Amino acid sequence: MSKIKFFSKEFVPLEMHKVRIVQKLNLVPIERRLEALTEAGNNTFLLKNRDIFLDMLTDSGVNAMSDKQLAAMMESDDSYAGSATFTKLEDKIKEIFGMEYFLPAHQGRAAENIISRVFVKPGSIVPMNYHFTTTKAHIVLNGGSVEEIIIDEGLKPTSDHQFKGNMCTAKLETLIKKNGADKIAYVRVETGTNLIGGQPHSLANLRAVRKVCDQFGLMLVFDASLLADNLHFIKTREADCRDMSIREITRQIAGLCDIIYFSARKLGCARGGGICTNSKDAYLKMRELVTLYEGFLTYGGMSVREIEAIAVGLEETMDEDMVSQGPQFIEYFVNELNRQGVPVVTPAGGLGCHLDALRFLPHVPQSEYPAGALASALFLVSSVRGMERGSISEQRDASGNEVYSNMELLRLALPRRVFTLSQIKYAIDRIVWLHQNRNLVGGLKFVEEPKMLRFFFGKLATTTDWQRKLLAKFKTDLGSNL
Ligand code: F0G
Repeated sequence: MSKIKFFSKEFVPLEMHKVRIVQKLNLVPIERRLEALTEAGNNTFLLKNRDIFLDMLTDSGVNAMSDKQLAAMMESDDSYAGSATFTKLEDKIKEIFGMEYFLPAHQGRAAENIISRVFVKPGSIVPMNYHFTTTKAHIVLNGGSVEEIIIDEGLKPTSDHQFKGNMCTAKLETLIKKNGADKIAYVRVETGTNLIGGQPHSLANLRAVRKVCDQFGLMLVFDASLLADNLHFIKTREADCRDMSIREITRQIAGLCDIIYFSARKLGCARGGGICTNSKDAYLKMRELVTLYEGFLTYGGMSVREIEAIAVGLEETMDEDMVSQGPQFIEYFVNELNRQGVPVVTPAGGLGCHLDALRFLPHVPQSEYPAGALASALFLVSSVRGMERGSISEQRDASGNEVYSNMELLRLALPRRVFTLSQIKYAIDRIVWLHQNRNLVGGLKFVEEPKMLRFFFGKLATTTDWQRKLLAKFKTDLGSNL
């Protein structure tokens, strides 16, 4: 895919697949979208699919599956114990990651539950390039804390650094020396670093992190949920890796890690998850918890159909055309918005296009949740559903104070192989319109605020009646257009 050049010199991401199953979409009028937002408390998690045109909430469990995945699902071997389907996945994991032991789990956070319960003790510290919401919640639940030691460049929304997801190994060493290696439960690297805009780490950086882990006798745990995108960036941006196949890069990454876990709702384009390791000791410690919380060792809470699909999906992830599809569409999306003056996280990463709400809505203070307000405003004017990745996604501290996020992002995820270029162009058109009318957008305040993971269920109201004004301006500019 990355090799196809257009005579016109225009950069056009070209699909190396064809669409053979479709789902009808609705685009409801803006008045209905306002009602839907009010019903959902301005929380895009609470919107109903029937009101959504382009669902860019997440890539989790909503990637398009291939004909080969669907075919494999038909020949799954269902049994409580000893399923041949599970053996297929176990063999694929051995082949791709070179890992001897595989523990199934129903999704990524279930793997995080198992790992945290086994290795995190009260007072433990888990250094990581950056946290993911469920990861941090599980570590904290077990009495541990998270230390984010991403390189400084990682937190700058605009940059031309090619690997903003890299961990700062100097900060890692200082942290270990300051606290003592016995306080560190393990070091965690998240590939395709989600909350800072799907930004990749390099293979060289992972080698450097491994070196520090070896120096202090620490375990390296790798969250591979967003591996597909990161593989594309290592292959295309890291000079030493240009001649390596995706399979070779994957093997080299896996060879540096003690434990790899993943959400198969992302990696493998199916639904499920798992934990892989070469350490018999770690495997035995985690095994009991899998049977306790997930299910027997040969299904772990997943349906066998999904297990078949994951085995095929992992194999398909070794194909350069497959891993480059998402990043190339995202690059188009990001570069086009950037060209039209809309603040986006650069360089383009994986997972989706990330709008920088602090620069998009500089007049909305962090106490009024600019990323949440932008999510709400964009849905109103486009029926495109994004996800707030800012302070609403944080949790208050023990004394009830707000913990403001380093970045206020609106994530527009592009599930793999799902959207067409014209749909991306529609989203760009509406975002540019919204940017030109950004002064009409105001803030949000909580009216219902759960203590844990408030972004999933919390409800918010607008601080003024800005949505009505935005609706009126939309009608003036675009007439009765939807
Ligand atoms: N780790 C990372 C990096 C993730 O992005 C996710 C999920 C998980 C772990 C947890 O996996 O959902 O299967 O339990 N991310 C989703 C998202 C929810 O929308 O970004 P899960």
